[in-house]
Amino acid sequence: MKKIIKLRVNGEDYEILVEPYWTLLKVLRDVLGFTGPKEGCGIGECGACTVYIDDKPVKSCLVLGVEVNGANITTIEGLSQNKKISGIQKAFIDEGAVQCGFCTPGMVMAINALYTNVSDPGEDDIKEALKGHLCRCTGYETIVKAAKRAKEYYKR
Ligand code: FES
Ligand code: FES
Repeated sequence: MKKIIKLRVNGEDYEILVEPYWTLLKVLRDVLGFTGPKEGCGIGECGACTVYIDDKPVKSCLVLGVEVNGANITTIEGLSQNKKISGIQKAFIDEGAVQCGFCTPGMVMAINALYTNVSDPGEDDIKEALKGHLCRCTGYETIVKAAKRAKEYYKR
């Protein structure tokens, strides 16, 4: 039986009628229209569906909508509000770190969270943050380069 849940997504409040088996990813994409998070594997292995739940990166295909009733969610759309994109998005453009782009939202969410939480991350931190994020196109080199380059945009 459907239930009503409340979510705050990218700063806006929503009341949504959901089936108890719908994932957060489905709620975000199919009900609310936030199509930035992608469904790659649907089983927690590719990272393309990553969003923040209360500021922590989480694979939204592994979470049910009803489990996060009342949570504060950020999708990649929330990183580029007021016509400004995040530092890691700028760095991805600088380095040409996107090919098909399917993995990009998850990668961006992971690296943005890293720079938000760690003041001066090194290459090992970057690789750790990208663990569980799969890319079928780039070979990862340009993604890691972009992640390092983003440092200049997150200076405090
Ligand atoms: S779609 Fe969620 S981890 Fe792949
Ligand atoms: S750019 Fe295509 S999957 Fe990463």
